[in-house]
Amino acid sequence: MEKLAATAQEILRKNWKDGFTIPTSRLYPFQWNWDSGFTAIGQCHFDIDFAIGELESLFSGQWENGMLPHIIFHSQNEKTYFPNYDFWDANVNLGAPQNPKTSGITQPAVHGFILECLLERFPENQKIQSFAKQIFPKIVNLHRWFYKYRDPENEGLIFIFHPWESGRDNSPLWDESMDRIVIDYNELPSYKRRDTSIAPSDERPTTHQYDRYVYLLQLGKKNKYDEKGIFEESPFLIQDTLMNAVLIKSNQSLINIGKQFGFDTGEIEEWQQQAKPKFSEKLWNDELNTFTVFDLRANHSIPHKEIGGLSSLYAEIPNSKQAKALNDYLQNLHQRNFYVCPSFDVDSPLFDSKRYWRGPIWPQMNWMIYHGLKKYAYEDTAKIVKSDLIELVSKHGFYEYFESQKELAAKLKVGYGGGAFSWTAACVLDLLKEA
Ligand code: SER
Repeated sequence: MEKLAATAQEILRKNWKDGFTIPTSRLYPFQWNWDSGFTAIGQCHFDIDFAIGELESLFSGQWENGMLPHIIFHSQNEKTYFPNYDFWDANVNLGAPQNPKTSGITQPAVHGFILECLLERFPENQKIQSFAKQIFPKIVNLHRWFYKYRDPENEGLIFIFHPWESGRDNSPLWDESMDRIVIDYNELPSYKRRDTSIAPSDERPTTHQYDRYVYLLQLGKKNKYDEKGIFEESPFLIQDTLMNAVLIKSNQSLINIGKQFGFDTGEIEEWQQQAKPKFSEKLWNDELNTFTVFDLRANHSIPHKEIGGLSSLYAEIPNSKQAKALNDYLQNLHQRNFYVCPSFDVDSPLFDSKRYWRGPIWPQMNWMIYHGLKKYAYEDTAKIVKSDLIELVSKHGFYEYFESQKELAAKLKVGYGGGAFSWTAACVLDLLKEA
């Protein structure tokens, strides 16, 4: 285990580019929003300045309205990624910074709970304390943006308008909503994907999906990334489980941190009082025994079992009956010889244990679900979730994601997607350092 921790540390040091961390070389050569959050939880164990610098550089890309972009393009010379800063053209929105350049969409708001983790792991550290006081209002500002602009009907649940915002880019969850988009190829700008010349194409989203990612990007840009027009126009408009659960978890962390420092937390408590019950009431699916995402454009829920529903455990949203159902689901997968937690329903015809978010195991999801299960005292399942991840990394390396079928995984020597991956290293390091 010591060797594993040392390798994790080495990866994080290598991926640190003098002020921020790339998720992995070549495939993702800039700073990604939720990747950075998880990265900080690994960095804090060997260099607190890295962890603080990571979050500071991420928030240097925050927009005037509070939005925190999903990519911060710290360098304009790096040309190997698509869509790059010039394709996003985020400065059509006057509140986007000129420097650094950014994308025009966001990602799961992990920063509140990441900050609380740093404070919990090093309660006496003065640097963390003063950093926490300084970044707190920026994180609150991000949450205020979510509730103000991404919840225009004031329901307590925020929407996304691009699958990249959910973090689960090509999950089968989005298939139906994405298929609604009819592409006029005379209007879609021509573009050249870079990802499939770096990672195997059967581990990545399809061309059909990429065309629609570009279509939605163009729709955002056309609206100057202004939420009002996007809300009215976007064919893809979803209240996602993972996005909302993560926001609710981070709300709670901000309340806890605010109380510790004597800040006013009234506004955050109001968001939380509305959001948490609304999530349980609107997103629970009695037949599937899990939480499901809601398609606002089609006005119906999308009935699939997948990893977003499980993330609710970390935000302590499920009641005890619901938590038991989620725990039983994971135990059942374990007994059926799957690593847990596959990102999509293994019994669905849409399940694909290799292709990105359609079935593989994702390290940062295991990290959240592990901590969620512990909150409900499901210690046995939590242990499985942790040891499955550690086993995969020990056998296959610090990859971006992993095969979820044990029989197939046994025949493989490596994981999927990018190698020497930052959040994999960070989450494993944090789990190994646990007392
Ligand atoms: N995850 C997406 C990518 O592959 C978008 O950020 O680049």
